[in-house]
Amino acid sequence: MEPSDDADLQKKITEAIRNPKNMGEMKGADAIGTAGSADCGDMVRMWVKFKEQDGKKIIDLATFQSFGCETAIAVASLATELIKGKTAEEALTMSGQDLAADLGPLPPMKIHCTQLVEGALRSALTQTPHSDSRPSLSGNLMESFTQSAAPGSVRIVPLKDDSKKA
Ligand code: FES
Repeated sequence: MEPSDDADLQKKITEAIRNPKNMGEMKGADAIGTAGSADCGDMVRMWVKFKEQDGKKIIDLATFQSFGCETAIAVASLATELIKGKTAEEALTMSGQDLAADLGPLPPMKIHCTQLVEGALRSALTQTPHSDSRPSLSGNLMESFTQSAAPGSVRIVPLKDDSKKA
């Protein structure tokens, strides 16, 4: 990356986190997913609400909470906007880098931040409704880590760190 790319990226991230979109726990969500990075310890949780439109089930609203770096917050904010109006299948085709495309090229060390958001989204969108393993649809991210959650009540997806291969 050129130094100007770096400055541009930082500017975009700063703008995104100054006014993050759709941040916070969603009451009455249809799905919730959490992902954590074993590498940096950061975590992202996403809530998704669907609606029926033209015979399809599409994403009506998505929100997030993050114990993460600025990049993860910026990408999660972008992701909640990008997936609106998509079906779960369509949203699942998007990689972390697709979700972060508006930020421009990211340095290799920031790729896992996008994967954290992708992981949380994937965790939410691949739940089997009404299965016994369905995680609790309430509770914010902070509560999950300050209370001892019942086993299986929170599904956390550890991420592979592909950035180290670069
Ligand atoms: Fe870990 Fe960004 S540094 S999510």
